[in-house]
Amino acid sequence: MNVLVTGGAGYVGTSLVPLLLERGYKVRVFDNLMFGGAPVLPFFRNQNFQFINGDIRNKDDIVRAMKDQDIVVHLAAIVGYPACRKEPILAEQVNIGGVDNLIGGVSKDQLVLFSSTGSNYGCVEGICTEETPLNPLSLYGQTKTVAERRLLENSNAIVYRFATAFGISPRMRLDLLINDFVYRALTEGYLVVYESQFRRTFIHVHDMCRAFLFAIDHADKMAGQVYNVGSEKMNLSKRDVCEQIAAKINCHVHYADVGEDQDKRDYVVSYHKINSLGYQTTVTVDEGIDELIRALRVVQIKTPYSNV
Ligand SMILES: NC(=O)c1ccc[n+]([C@@H]2O[C@H](COP(=O)([O-])OP(=O)(O)OC[C@H]3O[C@@H](n4cnc5c(N)ncnc54)[C@H](O)[C@@H]3O)[C@@H](O)[C@H]2O)c1
Repeated sequence: MNVLVTGGAGYVGTSLVPLLLERGYKVRVFDNLMFGGAPVLPFFRNQNFQFINGDIRNKDDIVRAMKDQDIVVHLAAIVGYPACRKEPILAEQVNIGGVDNLIGGVSKDQLVLFSSTGSNYGCVEGICTEETPLNPLSLYGQTKTVAERRLLENSNAIVYRFATAFGISPRMRLDLLINDFVYRALTEGYLVVYESQFRRTFIHVHDMCRAFLFAIDHADKMAGQVYNVGSEKMNLSKRDVCEQIAAKINCHVHYADVGEDQDKRDYVVSYHKINSLGYQTTVTVDEGIDELIRALRVVQIKTPYSNV
């Protein structure tokens, strides 16, 4: 099996590639190395690993990379609302234009696994299912909403709307809510939390990667559809997360009455659809916080928020 991973040098990609290689797949990563190449270096020892340094904004590059691939896991993107807000034109070119380029080269035999986001729901009363109308509040969510629609219309795709990731990965991201809170609690000794009652939903990065393996194994049943991916046990308010962190790290948490979080997401998500096919997450928020504490106590991150 030949698997192309666009954006494979990123936070999710560098956790996913080893799982694909372990299965004996031939894995080709296509990435422009925005955050450097160090996290992919260990993969070169494996003969089944190939790396293409390319930009998804260049149609010829991505069309060439897709040749002879059975599966395309599409991760390459400008990720998160702060990064998209900082570079809105780039965000549209990569997140929407990149998908159009990919569609230009895809064949009907290729399966596309698209990493979309629960950000597409925005601020919702009640519980979000895959049928809930999308109401993205950020440019990030807007680009992802357009991208997932175009992929479903023009390719044999499975769209995953992931919860917010947490946990350690070779290319580390500290802008993710749980990772950020643990890092600040450890390094600054306090957290200032706005709109602490806002509800969010979480998934460990390893479980995101397991979800892609699950899609490969169940493609016949799943193709052409959208799935929320996460766990209802990890639908938590920001205050819930802070309380779990404060129980493990000696820090002061200030729940601010004044001020607002630019990330306006406030939503609860149903994961019934994917659970009913047999997919379950394995890592809890509690375990993820422990893992982050163990790692971040010893490894210094020199540019903690480089992507935003
Ligand atoms: N981490 C999460 O919480 C989360 C949640 C839901 C969905 N997602 C989605 O999962 C995917 C991966 O996210 P991540 O957390 O690994 O982000 P990341 O920023 O760590 O990785 C993105 C990768 O894409 C590459 N890239 C960016 N622009 C490119 C371009 N023009 N051409 C080629 N490569 C390019 C970057 O170099 C990077 O390696 C994204 O599509 C994201 O929207 C992530």
